[in-house]
Amino acid sequence: MNKKIAVIGAGNVGASCAVYLAEANFADIILIDVVEGIPQGKGLDLTQAGPVRGYNSRVSGSNDYKDIAGADIVVMTAGLARKPGMTREDLLTKNAEIVGMAAENIKKHAPNAYVVVVSNPLDLMTYHMQKVTGFPTHRVVGQAGVLDSIRFRTFVAMELGVAQTDVQAMVLGGHGDTMVPLPRYTTVAGIPVSELISAERIKAICDRTADGGGEIVRLLKTGSAFYAPAAASVDMCRAIFNDEKRVLAASAMLTGQYGIKDIYIGVPVVLGGKGMEKILELKLDKDELAALQKSAATYKEHLKILGY
Ligand code: 2OP
Repeated sequence: MNKKIAVIGAGNVGASCAVYLAEANFADIILIDVVEGIPQGKGLDLTQAGPVRGYNSRVSGSNDYKDIAGADIVVMTAGLARKPGMTREDLLTKNAEIVGMAAENIKKHAPNAYVVVVSNPLDLMTYHMQKVTGFPTHRVVGQAGVLDSIRFRTFVAMELGVAQTDVQAMVLGGHGDTMVPLPRYTTVAGIPVSELISAERIKAICDRTADGGGEIVRLLKTGSAFYAPAAASVDMCRAIFNDEKRVLAASAMLTGQYGIKDIYIGVPVVLGGKGMEKILELKLDKDELAALQKSAATYKEHLKILGY
């Protein structure tokens, strides 16, 4: 194939991304990891699944960043995952080192790539990636809003006993405790969710969504979620590859929208062939806007720890 996606990190999220990307069958994939043999082994294994899974994507593995040369998109998944009792922000310093090193290498070996960041704490790592690479902000986006929105959709569908794919939802803000699920923008086949679910239950679903990653960390005990984060990342790669102009929540650099600037945070964007092509400004009510601004203010404080 003449398109190439590099996935940095061959752990649970990276390897699951490679599976979904291979099945999407639109690019070859290079998995990069520091552990010798792991990306090579997982890559070969996945390529060998192709004949029965019906894809021709080749998945290779390497411990050397020079092999990301020519990548159209880089998906950044490497970094520590949280354990029970930890917040995503507890990973800040260690993961900033890992993301910083990857960013230097992406800048050097794949200077024209689009970058989808998945490493946590997500909004801060996306900011760090953009600053270290120096790439234009439309080429660096963070995956979180898609994940948080699909969790919200799933919980609404579970509540009503209806198809998950018929639920549309929007979750803004940072990918953490301050995220902002927006029931006002949530529908089931076009029907406002408020007509189908009581306010009390909607509030419980919003809370469960905000704790969606934590719930899985507590169940897994040794790490965090990976199937849904990977699936969400691949949805974003597809939107960029196919110039789909998808309207998705993603972590984007704000330049005054929603009264916020110089920070990456989850907002509705148009994602297409030029990456983050547009930020949509919703007419948020007072409480929604306050929650989004509070989320941004929290991350501004955390950025100071990284020296920004
Ligand atoms: C999550 O929310 C890992 O941050 C990711 O599950």
